[in-house]
Amino acid sequence: SSQIIPSLSAAELADIDAEISHAPYKAAVAIDALKIVQSYRGWVSDESLKAIAQHLEMSPAELDGIATFYNLIFRQPVGEQVILLCNSVTCWIKGYEQIREQISQHLGVGLGETTTDKAYTFLPVTCLGACDKAPVMMVGDELHEHIDRNDLTQIFRSRE
Ligand code: FES
Repeated sequence: SSQIIPSLSAAELADIDAEISHAPYKAAVAIDALKIVQSYRGWVSDESLKAIAQHLEMSPAELDGIATFYNLIFRQPVGEQVILLCNSVTCWIKGYEQIREQISQHLGVGLGETTTDKAYTFLPVTCLGACDKAPVMMVGDELHEHIDRNDLTQIFRSRE
């Protein structure tokens, strides 16, 4: 159909439609569509979410459920880099609390917050499936394993 959805760009729609073209049904590309919009905008607003849902012929609530379940879709504006610190049980036992404090010190923000220069957003995440390498965190796309004070100093060196 040639229905106009003003809150998605032509480029976003083209990318989403390319995914749909080799999917069994539209809603099957839900996560890809969310990722596509996020790659253009940095995050997925309520308005974008509704537009994607409409395009995929699913309800916004259903799509929001998927977005919430998938850790790497951001429903709030985020900084250039997102730090996801695992707070599930193994990482928690292996020193989550200390690492959380150290990261907060380096960044000057708490969990759920973005630095004033918009360089980093610091978020908790549930088990990343790397428990044998606990404690772990993601910085952007990169998994950091067995994190300790030295790693943190290196990662945030430019901010010292
Ligand atoms: Fe942290 Fe599994 S508990 S990766």
